[in-house]
Parts: sequence; structure tokens; C-alpha cells
Amino acid sequence: MPKLPTVDEVTVPGRRAVPRSRRGWQQLVREIDSCRRCPLGYARQHVVVHRGSLRPRVVFVGEAPGEEEDRVGRPFVGRAGRRLDTAIESLGLRSREFAIINVFKCRPPENRFRSDAALACRPFLAQQLDFLRPRVVVPMGSHALEAFRPDALPILRSAGTRLQWRGRLLFPLVHPAAALHAPALARRWERDLRRLQRALSPTEVK
Ligand code: URA
Repeated sequence: MPKLPTVDEVTVPGRRAVPRSRRGWQQLVREIDSCRRCPLGYARQHVVVHRGSLRPRVVFVGEAPGEEEDRVGRPFVGRAGRRLDTAIESLGLRSREFAIINVFKCRPPENRFRSDAALACRPFLAQQLDFLRPRVVVPMGSHALEAFRPDALPILRSAGTRLQWRGRLLFPLVHPAAALHAPALARRWERDLRRLQRALSPTEVK
């Protein structure tokens, strides 16, 4: 697989500062909505951009929309999403405190990772994070972690540990879909969530 740029390495012309206003966000969403930078832009039903707060303390970053997300146009609305919602609730986060986004904005066929799509989406991911400016970023799964700290791969080495990204807390987790399929990963998911809960306590992250 070719080495992909991280969100920090994405440079102009693909990246532009998004004014931090509702209008700025809506403009970015329109841009993502009309994107045809890779073949996935022609195959999708819906672009999947974001759900949750526009001023979040924590941003969860998934990998790619699945069938259900493509149909509805919102991230994590299928089985993995229910697992994620339960987890977020158990962390005690209120709706204004978190947001959910993905590395890919369009559904890849057979849910396979594609470098061309990841490359096309990188500036959007970078712009979303520039706008949302969370204090904590939670990449879920290896492709999400790779967008921030490829040096911290493989995911099982770093899930549940505290890393740094741009002076913020980066707290990787295994992907919730993986936790649905393998009991060992389900246990890991639960253990790492409790660690994340401790990391998010007000004495640790304001
Ligand atoms: N898995 C993801 O990584 N993202 C989604 O939006 C849904 C499932």
C-alpha cells in the first residue's frame, strides 16, 4: 500500500481554512457533498460527513461508511454504531460534547479500504478537525489511527494508550465493528473504554 499523507501532511491546494462559523461548516459540507475526486463519489447514495456537536470536546473517527450509513447519510447508524453509542453513553458524554466522523466520506464497495479514496478524503478530514478543534481525538481502527500517527501502528499496540497529536490527547481504540465479531476484541474494547473514561475525567482533560 502506498504511504498516505497524515492529516498534518495534507497541503494546499487540497486544504483551505474553514471559517469557524455555521456558514463555514455548511460550505465545507456542500464541498464534500459534491466531491467527485475519486470513483467512490460516483457510486455512493449519500455522502457521510458528521454527526454530533460542532464544538465537541471529543471526536471519534471511524473508517468508512457502511451500507446503512450510505443509505441514511450519517456515520455509525448500523450495528457498529449502536455499539459506539452505548460506549459513548457509558463514558458519560453529553450530546454537545462529542462528534463522530470518518476517514472516508463515501462508502467503499465491499467495505474495502482504498488508498485513492483515502487520499481524496484527507483534506476533508483535516478541514473537519481544524474546524471542530476537539481536545481529544479517538481514532477507531487502524486506518483511522494511520491518518494521525502511522508510527503508532499496529492498532493493537496503541489501542487504550494515551498518545499525543498536535498537543492534544489521541486515544486510539479498536474499531467497534471488530469488537462485534471477536470476543477477545470485545473484551479489549471494554477495557480500553474504561481507560478512555479515566483519561476523559475532568482532572485529566478540561
Ligand atoms: N464503520 C465506520 O467506520 N464508520 C461508519 O460510519 C460506520 C461503520
